[in-house]
Amino acid sequence: MSSRRFNPMGKLALIAVLAALAEGLAAARGAADEAAAKRLARGKRLYNGAGACLACHGADGKPSVPDAPDLTDAAWQRKRSDADFAKALAEGKGTMPPFKGSAADIEALVAYVRSLAKRAPQADASGFSQRLE
Ligand code: HEC
Repeated sequence: MSSRRFNPMGKLALIAVLAALAEGLAAARGAADEAAAKRLARGKRLYNGAGACLACHGADGKPSVPDAPDLTDAAWQRKRSDADFAKALAEGKGTMPPFKGSAADIEALVAYVRSLAKRAPQADASGFSQRLE
């Protein structure tokens, strides 16, 4: 009767394969993180620069014109898709003029607008609202 024998080399090979996979995944993730950081930096540059978004939306996303939405409002942001934002930017919406830029510029701006909501007020353990800055 044959028994399944412990094969130390087989196990080592498996560990090596798994380690290589994990390393590959970590590298891919690092590259994705880097791409996301670059996109965010590009969005910030456009928001404060060529896009002139801060003129109406404020440097931190708090509106400076009455009819502009509060971009720091996470609950409001959740009701809007990235496609909604991209369309509003490309075509303009209400009194907001269209943004003349590439698709990558618009994608970067949407990513940056998303990052503004993350700094929305958060309730701390004591129940008071605290602004993270
Ligand atoms: C002249 C003022 C003005 C400028 C400049 C401006 N916005 Fe707006 N923005 C508005 C107003 C007003 C609205 C609300 C439009 C509405 O709902 O009628 C708005 C809406 C938005 C929305 C929400 C769109 C939605 O889905 O309802 C986003 C996101 C946004 N702006 C981002 C930006 C970005 C990024 C820029 C820079 C490229 C920018 N805005 C430039 C005034 C402005």
